[in-house]
Amino acid sequence: MAKKGRVFSGARPTGRQHLGNYLGAIKNYVALQADYECVYCIVDVHALTTVETTQELRQNTFEMALDWLAAGMYPEESIIFVQSHVPQVMELHTYLSMVTPLGKLTDLPTFKEKIRQQPENVNYGLVGYPVLMAADIVLYKTDIVPVGIDQAPHLEFTREVVRSFNYRYQTKVLIEPQVKHTEVLKVLGIDGREKMGKSLNNHIELALTPEETVKRVREMVTDPARQRKTDPGNPDVCNVFTMHKLFSGQDEVDMINVECRKAGIGCVDCKLRYANNLNKNLEPFRAKRAELAARPHYIQDVLDDGAKRARAIAEQTMVEVREAMQLP
Ligand code: TRP
Repeated sequence: MAKKGRVFSGARPTGRQHLGNYLGAIKNYVALQADYECVYCIVDVHALTTVETTQELRQNTFEMALDWLAAGMYPEESIIFVQSHVPQVMELHTYLSMVTPLGKLTDLPTFKEKIRQQPENVNYGLVGYPVLMAADIVLYKTDIVPVGIDQAPHLEFTREVVRSFNYRYQTKVLIEPQVKHTEVLKVLGIDGREKMGKSLNNHIELALTPEETVKRVREMVTDPARQRKTDPGNPDVCNVFTMHKLFSGQDEVDMINVECRKAGIGCVDCKLRYANNLNKNLEPFRAKRAELAARPHYIQDVLDDGAKRARAIAEQTMVEVREAMQLP
């Protein structure tokens, strides 16, 4: 079947993926494969802007690729690769940086946030982060970029840099990508307050065992106003109920919605039901993951093959870019 265009997205190698990663990104990446030609990149070069040892990077890249494949990202059709394996992106990054006013980068909210987070390491790479991201996107002549809403300024920047480049060199080689926001809901961590994330240690990894999952789910914070089992609860403010809506059957959701409000079901029981349903949902993922984990060479082969296919597209674009710039 003819595909509707090319999708590109990138994610920093954060190792084992959690429910927030799954619901916020991976699920969409998987679904888009049916209609689009998809290119998915593990952006290890971007990760270098926030000090990490390269050994850790390597491990995190492998674990993330493993989770992606186990979740249904399909390397026979989609291109799944590691950013540093396609060096053309560094070249394009440099050319794009020459048509980028510095102030535009230092004004970005994402840059200001990073200065706050790591004042001891405000490196040059952090400033250029969106330029490298723009290079990622346009190198593959991308039509659509599925990303979270936090990346909206970077996408707008990408569109601007494409216009600047094309205008400066009177060309049309670079394509302005469209953004497609993926986050349907903010997935909260087990604290029921903050967005789920590894750094806050409020996450639930997909690859946990069923027993570990139950343990983690038991730690989830429910309606804070409900002190005792005999108090009525409010599912509307309960993160466990939000998750039930995603992983449990409609009958069970309806039952909880009624019973919780009249203290007919307690939080412990409610959480165990959620944990069981979550475990059932994750069964195929975990089975596939175990199968893949037993074949580490296969993961490497997938990434090597992805890099090869990515480089072919990238080099073609760079030939056109150099020609447009009339570089000697
Ligand atoms: N900046 C993105 C993030 O921090 C990661 C990223 C890098 C990306 N290159 C990209 C996302 C290209 C989409 C397209 O999450």
